[in-house]
Amino acid sequence: MCGITGYIGPDDTGRIVHQGLKNLEYRGYDSAGIALTGETLTLAKTAGEVDELTAPQSADATVGIGHTRWSTHGEPTETNAHPHTDCTGEVAVVHNGIIENYDALKRELSEQHIFQSETDTEVIPHLIETHLADGISLLGAVQRTTEQLDGSYAIAATAAGHNGIVVAREDSPLLIGHGDDATFIGSDATAFIEHTNQITYLESGDIAHLTTDDITIYNGGEPVDRSTDTLDWDAEAAGKSGYEHYMLKEIHEQPRALRQAISGRINDLATSVDLEVDLPTEYLQSIEEIQIIACGTSYHAGLYAKELLETHAGVKVTVHIASEYEFNGDRDPWRTLVLAITQSGETADTLSALREATRAGARTLALTNTLGSTVTREADDTVFIRAGPEIGVAATKTFVSQVATTTLLTVHLGQVRGTLSSQATTEFLESLRDLPGAVQQVLDQAPALKRAAETYADSKAFFYIGRKAGYPVALESALKLKEISYDHAEGFAAGELKHGPLALVTPETPVIAILTNQAAAEKTVNNVKEVESRGAPVIGVASDSAVTSDIDTVFEIPACGPLEPVVANVVLQLFAYYVANEKGRPIDKPRNLAKSVTVE
Ligand code: F6R
Repeated sequence: MCGITGYIGPDDTGRIVHQGLKNLEYRGYDSAGIALTGETLTLAKTAGEVDELTAPQSADATVGIGHTRWSTHGEPTETNAHPHTDCTGEVAVVHNGIIENYDALKRELSEQHIFQSETDTEVIPHLIETHLADGISLLGAVQRTTEQLDGSYAIAATAAGHNGIVVAREDSPLLIGHGDDATFIGSDATAFIEHTNQITYLESGDIAHLTTDDITIYNGGEPVDRSTDTLDWDAEAAGKSGYEHYMLKEIHEQPRALRQAISGRINDLATSVDLEVDLPTEYLQSIEEIQIIACGTSYHAGLYAKELLETHAGVKVTVHIASEYEFNGDRDPWRTLVLAITQSGETADTLSALREATRAGARTLALTNTLGSTVTREADDTVFIRAGPEIGVAATKTFVSQVATTTLLTVHLGQVRGTLSSQATTEFLESLRDLPGAVQQVLDQAPALKRAAETYADSKAFFYIGRKAGYPVALESALKLKEISYDHAEGFAAGELKHGPLALVTPETPVIAILTNQAAAEKTVNNVKEVESRGAPVIGVASDSAVTSDIDTVFEIPACGPLEPVVANVVLQLFAYYVANEKGRPIDKPRNLAKSVTVE
């Protein structure tokens, strides 16, 4: 949700900031802009994608900042694109987040300032301008400005004739990258990963002044030390490696992502799990309820986790759409554990639900892919899913890694709570070890999946059905198809079809049935017959050909115990990808969506 980048260094500033925006485009792509600042300010903006923006040139530029936008306030026009400037045209600001009190500030400022855009952001350069007029430094002006702002923000500001870039963070993410002779900023490390993997994560309330020679970080007006971490991603991991789309690359990376998720966490004999998290045995034994909070794909991973945890770890689990969450559990942290699942670690709805749980006194655990993200700072403990960078807006490898990691949590919990026998533990862990190979077998069927997708691409709508762990996979597969193909797709609990949705089923609406083990396939077969008799084409995904004998199009997957539905999900990721590709959709940048949704 909006990407910010910036550069101070000896190379071509315009080109490097432009490349940073290209890397960040998955965070928003409806307009973009760059400001280069030295003795003067040079601005370039476009209402389109970063490719449509020509990198500006400026002989005297010493610093550059850039922004790629996912609009919240004001349409995606060139005027509304960032950077925004003040009346003098000398101050430039890029911003990710929402200024909640912008209306009041704008009314106040409007007596003396002329506003160009409809954005909340534009109040910031005007506020900075008023403070600079008192003769103070850019750092001081940004400090004073942030005291006037309510809301969430990551800001980068420059001003002609002032040294360096001043950045400020309140909730929205912001990182500093340390190169050999250059400094970078980014909403995330993808912005500059080809230049450096040495990262400082700013904390909420931090304001930093970055110049050619120095970086000083303040919080509450006092200088603070922030550590530098080494990120073990490289530029290749963040690139497309020859695939047509990031999404396809990330689908194919799933065997590796899964190996990383379990690496070092299962002992040689497959008898125990070590999640590198400080959750004492007595605590895990005492929990009466786990409340999962998450959005979108992560919510579907949460539904899958509920199926596993309730069945195998004997604990009650409730799964909450984060934006609807109200804490109603036991306020004793020894009874209620709140698990926030968020690949980015920055989703505003999930963070707000987490804060509500914290206020209520629950113990909190984060499951995320992103080192240093806000959720890791705010939750009591964190488990990383280790999927590696995911750039495609449609989540794929992070979903399977979330499920794999919650499977490890289930096994660990089942063991300490005495609900999982040692034989069941070993079977579970063996199936986790088999999962990367099983997913690879599915990836090898890609050409057949492409043909099926081309056959059905023009359908009027797509319905997905499944039971038990097959149900969240039906929801997730439908979400994937609708996000990237723009087709109407819905997932249903298979048994619910006959209670209403069956009215939608026609020969033009393929029904995709998840018929795996652990998904009550024998019952879903009856629902398949119901739709077949209404003329709907059926695509079945199963490991056992006995349940698919009457179905025309079948994708066989390897048997994989409780994780078979995850393998089915990979089949349906590829199906969604090929339907969308057949239609020529912009798969990595679906309309209206952004990768990291940092507003509520
Ligand atoms: C769908 C998708 C979204 C995210 C959701 C939550 O493909 O990616 O539905 O799952 O926005 O994001 P995180 O997991 O970052 O909290």
